[in-house]
Amino acid sequence: MLVERTVDRLWVDAITDHGSRALTVLDPACGDGRLLEAVRSRLTTWGIDCELLGVDIDREAVHAARTRLGSSAVIIEGDALSPLGIGGLGSGPCDLFIANPPFISQMSAHTTRGGSSPHGGGPYADVAVEFCGLALEVTSPDRGRIAMILPQSLLTARDAGPIRSQMDSASTVLWDWHSDEFHFDAAVRVCAIGRELRSKADHAPLTDALPTNALPAHALPHADSWGHLIAAARKVPRLGELHTVGVLRDRAELNANFRDQYYGLIPAVKESDPECDHHLPPLITTGLIDPGVCHWGIRPARFAKLTFRAPRVDLAALDAPMVAWAHRKLVPKVLVATQTRVIEAVADPTGAWLPGVPITSVVPICDPHTSIDGYEAIDGYEADQDQAIWEIAAVLTSPVATIAAWWASAGSGLSSHTLRISPRLIADTPWPAGDLTEAVAHLREGRIIECGVAVTTAFGVGADHPALQWWLESLGRTRKQPT
Ligand SMILES: C[S@@+](CC[C@H](N)C(=O)[O-])C[C@H]1O[C@@H](n2cnc3c(N)ncnc32)[C@H](O)[C@@H]1O
Repeated sequence: MLVERTVDRLWVDAITDHGSRALTVLDPACGDGRLLEAVRSRLTTWGIDCELLGVDIDREAVHAARTRLGSSAVIIEGDALSPLGIGGLGSGPCDLFIANPPFISQMSAHTTRGGSSPHGGGPYADVAVEFCGLALEVTSPDRGRIAMILPQSLLTARDAGPIRSQMDSASTVLWDWHSDEFHFDAAVRVCAIGRELRSKADHAPLTDALPTNALPAHALPHADSWGHLIAAARKVPRLGELHTVGVLRDRAELNANFRDQYYGLIPAVKESDPECDHHLPPLITTGLIDPGVCHWGIRPARFAKLTFRAPRVDLAALDAPMVAWAHRKLVPKVLVATQTRVIEAVADPTGAWLPGVPITSVVPICDPHTSIDGYEAIDGYEADQDQAIWEIAAVLTSPVATIAAWWASAGSGLSSHTLRISPRLIADTPWPAGDLTEAVAHLREGRIIECGVAVTTAFGVGADHPALQWWLESLGRTRKQPT
């Protein structure tokens, strides 16, 4: 697939001037040389010569590649990422960079390189990212092509952001592919990309290349993310023009809980005693949250490998830093679950719930001195805050919020059907310009679908837009009545 999609006749003829010179091909992690062989076999059918250069760090792989490709190919045993670099081989830029590079996670102490890579990418970027950086260094900037298999995490990982930006500004998309299944020996889901390097003058940035009915720029918060490639392939609807006033981060502060809080909570979580525990805050786990609904006390909750019917947190059993944390969390807020297919947010207007890990808290920014509507200052503040919480929950319980998240971050979830709903992703949710009164009224009464429809209208998107149907299907529901 890499070869078929990247090595087309028109391009080969243009690069080689109709076969008057050989096409130069590099695989910097060539293994047994199968990719180089596939390129050569395609070119041979067209009567085009090629110069093949393969590199592999593994002696046996080098031997296998030499055996497979014969003496006309140059196969070097070495580290393609070494500071001496492939440039040191004096071979000049290649016309085609093709690779299925190693995926080496930097999250594990066993495999970490212990810092940023000289080829680009932050300290947590997978080694595959370094091969992307290498591709940009050694591929001809004059219509050279890159074809690579990559881990899907690279599409959205923060530390791969700089490489994605560099790729986007140096090349145009030829094709892309991803799969929900596991392939080869890879323990992660993979994707593949085909790119062509262009001189700056010819180059249109990637976001310009998106169809005009794609999200507006402000709703493409992660312009450096390649999640949109997966969203397009999964046929996530495009939203078109939205009527917006900024994004959610203009109105709220967001914070997530971390591992320390998870461990800190363990000694204090207990099964609720209906007789005497009413004063203890309920613990809300991610599994208890559905769009617009919290199932605490109704659905069992899993916490620290135990199942609770109705978990509460005994604040007296927390240590001092955890008590301070709990008080910071016991404020009016919206809670958002983390690994979900549609955004699942619930309003906690009284601040009674303690969020577990990982759940994001969204706390509205309300100024107590600028209350509106003629309320007394403090009552007005509380009324504003209550309204603000319900509005945030309503906006997040809408097709637009979920679909914007998919375009920004598809590929980030643990499973292929979910997204990692990070605080940053929530913060970048577009905010509708229209009135939210109706949406809030529906949400307060638990009418989730009607809330979603009303928010969609507040974004200026018609209720007949495919976004709504897609969201309902993703919710696993159908619309019961026209509204
Ligand atoms: C996933 S295999 C791909 C092999 C072959 N291209 C294929 O598709 O079957 C990755 C290869 O990269 C090699 N490799 C790992 N780190 C390398 C490095 N720093 N420089 C060169 N090769 C490396 C491994 O030895 C392995 O053969």
